[in-house]
Amino acid sequence: MEKKNIDWENLGFGYIKTDKRYVSKYVDGKWSDGVLTEDDTITMSECACVLQYAQTIFEGLKAYTTQDGKIVVFRPDLNAQRLANSARRMEMPVFPEEKFVEAVEQVVKANAAFVPPYGTGATLYLRPYMFGSNPVIGVKPADEFEFRVFCTPVGPYFKGGAKPLTIKVSDFDRAAPHGTGFIKAGLNYAMSLHAIVTAHKEGFDENMYLDAATRTKVEETGGANFLFVTKDNKVVTPKSDSILPSITRRSLMTVAKDYLGLEVEEREVYFSELKDFAECGLCGTAAVISPVGKIYDHGNEICFPSGMEKMGPVTQKLYDTLTGIQMGRLEAPEGWIKVIE
Ligand code: PLP
Ligand code: COI
Repeated sequence: MEKKNIDWENLGFGYIKTDKRYVSKYVDGKWSDGVLTEDDTITMSECACVLQYAQTIFEGLKAYTTQDGKIVVFRPDLNAQRLANSARRMEMPVFPEEKFVEAVEQVVKANAAFVPPYGTGATLYLRPYMFGSNPVIGVKPADEFEFRVFCTPVGPYFKGGAKPLTIKVSDFDRAAPHGTGFIKAGLNYAMSLHAIVTAHKEGFDENMYLDAATRTKVEETGGANFLFVTKDNKVVTPKSDSILPSITRRSLMTVAKDYLGLEVEEREVYFSELKDFAECGLCGTAAVISPVGKIYDHGNEICFPSGMEKMGPVTQKLYDTLTGIQMGRLEAPEGWIKVIE
C-alpha cells in the first residue's frame, strides 16, 4: 500500500484530516451499526447537550508500524473499558467494548496510508469520542448520542522531543475530590485551558496539579500522569482517585517490574518529597514518557539530578522498553498488541 506524501519525521502533535472516520448513533435506546464516512463534519442542533452542558468524553490511543512492517494498536481494550467508565459517570450509554475495538480496527485499516512508516518517530493517533447530540435546555443528560473515531498522524506531543521539560506548580486545581478527575471527560480539559495558556505565557511546558483538598500531594499534569524514580531506582507513581488511570503508566509499571526488575510503588506522593527523587517523567499516550528536568514552585526550583539535557537513565530504559514493545522490537505481554490484519 502506498503511503501518503507526508513529512513524517517533522510532524508535530497536530490534526491532519485523514480519509475515513467511524460513526455510530444512539437513538431510541440503541446504537446504530457503525459506518465509515469521508465526511469530517458534524451537523447538530444549536441546543445540543454537548454544546450547552459539555456532555462529552473521549479516548486517545495509537497505531504503530512495527519493525517487520505490521500495523498494530496498543491495548485498545483498556481504552474501551475506560470510555465505558467515563460514560457511566457522565450519564451516557456505554458503547459496547468489543464494538469499540472493531471501530478502532476499521479506522486504522481504512487509513492505513496515514500510518507513519517504521523508524520515522511518528505514529497514528486515534481519537474515539462520544457526545450528547439532541437539544437539551434544562440541565439533564441527552438521550441521543454519537460515538465516533477519527485518526491523525502525529509526532511528539512536546516540541523538542526528548528534551527535559520545565513544569509549573499550578495555582489552579484540576479535579475535586469525588469529582470527574478519574474519567476522560472534555470538561476536565476545558477547565485546564486557562491554566495551560498561563503556564505557556510564563515560559513553562506544562502544569503540575496538586490535590485540591490539601495541596500537599502530587496529582498529574493536564494530559499525563507522573512517574518518579528514587535515588535507589524504585519507580514511584501517585495514587489518587482524582487522576486519570493512564494506560501508559499502568503499562510502564509492569515494564519496570517484569522487564527491568525494578521495584514499583503506586502510592500518595507528597510534594515535599520531590526534592529527593532522582528522575521525573510524564507518561501518557501522547506524551509517551517525556522527561521532566525542573519543577517551578512560586520562586523555588526543584532540579532533578538527571538534568536539563537528556532523560535520566531509568526513564530512558522505561522509554526504550515500552516503545520496543509497541514497535515490535521486544516481545509484548499477552494481549497488549492488536495486529490489524
Ligand atoms: N492524564 C491525563 C489528564 C490525560 O489526558 C492522559 C491522556 O490520555 C493521561 C493521563 C495518560 O493516559 P494514557 O496513558 O491512557 O494515554
Ligand atoms: C492522550 O495522551 O491521548 C491524551 O488524550 C492527552 C492529550 C493531552 C492529548
